[in-house]
Amino acid sequence: MRILLVDDNRTTLRYMTKLVRKLDAEPLAYDSPESVLSDTSRLDFDIGVIDFQMPFCSGVELLRALTRLEKYRDKPFIVVTADTDPSTRMDALNAGAIDFLTKPINPLEFQARMRNLSALVDARNKLADKADWLRQEVEKALREMREREEEIINRLTIAASYKDQDTAQHTRRVAEYSEAISAAYGLDVDRCRDMRLASPMHDIGKVGIPDVILLKTGKLTEQEFATMQRHALIGRDILAESSSSLLQLAAEIAGSHHERWDGQGYPLRLAGTSIPLSGRIVALADNFDALTTARPYKAAWDVETTVDHINERSGSQFDPDVVKAFNKALPKILSVMLAHLPSTVSREVQRVRSA
Ligand SMILES: [Fe+2]
Ligand SMILES: [Fe+2]
Repeated sequence: MRILLVDDNRTTLRYMTKLVRKLDAEPLAYDSPESVLSDTSRLDFDIGVIDFQMPFCSGVELLRALTRLEKYRDKPFIVVTADTDPSTRMDALNAGAIDFLTKPINPLEFQARMRNLSALVDARNKLADKADWLRQEVEKALREMREREEEIINRLTIAASYKDQDTAQHTRRVAEYSEAISAAYGLDVDRCRDMRLASPMHDIGKVGIPDVILLKTGKLTEQEFATMQRHALIGRDILAESSSSLLQLAAEIAGSHHERWDGQGYPLRLAGTSIPLSGRIVALADNFDALTTARPYKAAWDVETTVDHINERSGSQFDPDVVKAFNKALPKILSVMLAHLPSTVSREVQRVRSA
């Protein structure tokens, strides 16, 4: 325990220093307020004992000056005074003192007060340590929970990729496109990250679709297409009712990424803003990737044709504001494509970027 002692009377100061040492505490003795104030950059103490009557600057003024500094604001201060006038004491209390000692100093009283205050400071420090420890534990637990959520998502995405060869690469790109569009749309950083983490599961419901339909290279019959469409609701059901907000978002995306702005999509034929924003964003990201990559039933489209195609469908298939965000995010989207696609396509992307 470090105890600040301030008194212009050297005899009293020496006496208090001796008493503090007897308590096994460390005295920090100053014989003037000025010397204390010029030392504040390095001065650190647990309890302050300040003489009321000092030349040039009174104990109360010193107290005010010290408690104006953040690092001393919560320190317990005791004012030593021979003056029993209540207004003097009120002044000291108003300046931040928590107690008084009467001069001449009674050694037993002085030591008893110091012991009590030390116990108080100790308890307060322990409480602060505990609060700090608890805060760190909560942060750690939240971090771990988040990591576990992300792990679940990654594992589910891997599980889905066993069904559909295309899925692993496709979902990774859709995740990054969705994040880029979300950012350009103006969503905050946390929401954009959630979009990146939750969007890879948009087609998780394909695990419930028979392989003959899922892996069919030819055109689907009407009935097969109807079966294929069920992946949206299956996906939503797999992920729904989780207490994890990330999985809830993933459920929302799975269930709505095939809806269309004009209400002609599936599974619920929702229209306009009744389609969750997350679904509107992933719908565009998913389409962009489907069009720019080769599928068993079609060749990859070039970027310019795809961008034109998407812009033509603003207000019909896609939310016009999401299309605007997509156009804004295009440089980022192209750099994602470049990082993920085979070299022949990369050359094409590079050509579009430099055009
Ligand atoms: Fe889908
Ligand atoms: Fe997809």
